[in-house]
Amino acid sequence: MPDYEKYINLIDLNDYPVSWWNELLSLAHEIKQSPEDYAKSCDGRIMGTLFYEPSTRTQMSFQTAMLRLGGTIIGFDNPATSSVAKGENLKDTTKIVSGYADIMVMRHPVEGSVKAAALTADCPIINAGDGGHLHPTQTLTDLFTLKEEKGTLENLTIGFCGDLKNGRTVHSLIKAMTCYKGSRFILVSTPELALPTYIKDMLSAGGFYYKEVTSLDEAIVDIDVLYMTRIQQERFASEREYLEQKGAYILDKNKLKRAKSDLIILHPLPRVDEIAIEVDEDPRAMYFEQARYGMYIRMALIYKILRNSGKPAPLIKGRVHKDVECSNPRCITHKERYLPHYFEGSSDILTCEYCDNRTLV
Ligand code: NCD
Repeated sequence: MPDYEKYINLIDLNDYPVSWWNELLSLAHEIKQSPEDYAKSCDGRIMGTLFYEPSTRTQMSFQTAMLRLGGTIIGFDNPATSSVAKGENLKDTTKIVSGYADIMVMRHPVEGSVKAAALTADCPIINAGDGGHLHPTQTLTDLFTLKEEKGTLENLTIGFCGDLKNGRTVHSLIKAMTCYKGSRFILVSTPELALPTYIKDMLSAGGFYYKEVTSLDEAIVDIDVLYMTRIQQERFASEREYLEQKGAYILDKNKLKRAKSDLIILHPLPRVDEIAIEVDEDPRAMYFEQARYGMYIRMALIYKILRNSGKPAPLIKGRVHKDVECSNPRCITHKERYLPHYFEGSSDILTCEYCDNRTLV
């Protein structure tokens, strides 16, 4: 058994069964009700946080979560002040930190980077966002918020609005909601920022109702949950392309007049201009609570991983295809050349195990 199969890593939520997510949601609820019962549960344990990309909520909520469980933290939030600035590769940095810490949390701008680190790390690792790919702990935060505020994760019509192309939180949450009965999806974006085809294919294959629209006014009437997102400036090829999209959708009081009275408005934050400040006073605005729920779900996750309770998910399901290059230029395999080219599938379409991109061979 390779070493990495010993650990409960969290790279992609869909690596685990829904029963695993539901256990975490129940544990987070319990911790929220009685935090004092868990205040010493990670006494003497150390968490390493490796943030190669800016973050406020994700990083601080992980750190707070560990401190509230009685553990301590090490790490960096600016690779320029670590050995990364001297040219150290991802493998060496993460291997070293995993020898110091009991658990690692990593955010990185390149897709598939956290899985790449997990292959050689000597402790469990949690994906805190890998480029435009996935962000599973934001998804757990979103699921926990929905469960606590709506009382159910079934039969919800969710409207996603904004940058559906580059928003990793959108990709992760849509994938997760396909595991709950009766989910319906209204996708509000400009054609340039539409949801990637592989996720739409997944919705079609699963028989899910989804509709792509360009008008938020039109969509807002029918939805139970509105998931607003920021236009992801840092993922655009040029400033001009970003400016063409900036301000495409702005939720304000006027738009909310036509929405359901029990709508809840979520946003992974940070917001730029897509939700007017006046909306904060609306009882349907749930994004600040959502950020606080994120701390409880991360406490539950750290607690569970450090107790090693449950079965680790297999990291690699396919095999090495030495001569095949992933066709996604944003994939980690193009940056860290020593990585084995792992792909799943056997016909003429291979799925990259790091970034999930499909490559024609
Ligand atoms: C999101 C992220 O980093 O992807 N933020 C977060 O984790 N709370 C959303 C974003 O940056 O727009």
